[in-house]
Amino acid sequence: MIKRVLITGANAGLGKETAKQLASRHEVEKIYLGCRNIDKALAAKTELEQITGRKIFHILKIDVCDHASVKTAVQELDHSIDALVMNAGGTGGKNFDHVNSNGVTEIFAVNLLGHSLLTQELLKTGKLTKIAVYAGSEAARGVKEMGMKRPALPTSSEEEFTAICDGSFFGKSQDATIPYGSIKYMGALWMSAMARRHPHVKFITMSPGATTGTEGFNTLPTLKQYLMKGMMQVMLWLGKVHNVEVGAKRYINGIFNKELKNGVFYASKNGLTGKICDQSTLFSDLNSTEYQENAYRAIQRFL
Ligand SMILES: NC(=O)c1ccc[n+]([C@@H]2O[C@H](COP(=O)([O-])OP(=O)(O)OC[C@H]3O[C@@H](n4cnc5c(N)ncnc54)[C@H](OP(=O)(O)O)[C@@H]3O)[C@@H](O)[C@H]2O)c1
Repeated sequence: MIKRVLITGANAGLGKETAKQLASRHEVEKIYLGCRNIDKALAAKTELEQITGRKIFHILKIDVCDHASVKTAVQELDHSIDALVMNAGGTGGKNFDHVNSNGVTEIFAVNLLGHSLLTQELLKTGKLTKIAVYAGSEAARGVKEMGMKRPALPTSSEEEFTAICDGSFFGKSQDATIPYGSIKYMGALWMSAMARRHPHVKFITMSPGATTGTEGFNTLPTLKQYLMKGMMQVMLWLGKVHNVEVGAKRYINGIFNKELKNGVFYASKNGLTGKICDQSTLFSDLNSTEYQENAYRAIQRFL
């Protein structure tokens, strides 16, 4: 039974929709809305209570880019959670390549480092009991339809992954979509390594697929934002992407579908929408225990 769930980035987009869909399941008794902005969190809580008719939403202040905030949030959790949805993330804001006080780029911090710390702290305190779902992306294996190449890592060594964490791997680029794919690739590898280390918890990387109707592109430069949003709209008409209800349903599937295998990264079988499959059947590097361990060790250097 999944009774208590924590979702990071729960005030918008896929996170908020996931909270809504979870509330339609009667066994779910408490949903922690992990948010960094209290005003936005309160607005989301009110909206969710109105839509679902349930008063099961609790705000947990957490900024996944701030290690102190992550540790405080874990301390403040008044109960263990059965499921964690590591959803906060995206293209990392206007200063995505800025290196923060932990030595990693903003885009790395929000998509991966903060969630690694959060999971570690939850496990250390016995507050995560059943399942962890990480927001993956098809960008981790390349997306021809969006002009995104497969991450080009010649060796997937610990050093290469360390250079992804601190951004030095990418040099000076104004394009956040370039580190994004490599970081989501690293995230999927890290989840597989975690599955080996913590067999009492199930670790599923699940891409929501290309999803319109979220705030995902809002921090891109204006021109790029319009281009991406325009392209998504055209792709929605063509049936190549889906809406936020469908995207969030994938997380729900990740939590409840017992047939999904521990440590595996699931995303679209073809393109960016439709059926899902084990992504290592499309990109075998994801299956390498050596690469998984390299990704894990690189992350540990910054925790
Ligand atoms: N949409 C897609 O097509 C797609 C495809 C594949 C994967 N994904 C992944 O799905 C996840 C959600 O994407 P989305 O499209 O729903 O994005 P979104 O609408 O922009 O929502 C992102 C959420 O994350 C929160 N967030 C950002 N930085 C945070 C931080 N430092 N600490 C805590 N929360 C933070 C945001 O809060 P604020 O409101 O405070 O900024 C917001 O609630 C991301 O991990 C993304 O990479 C999305």
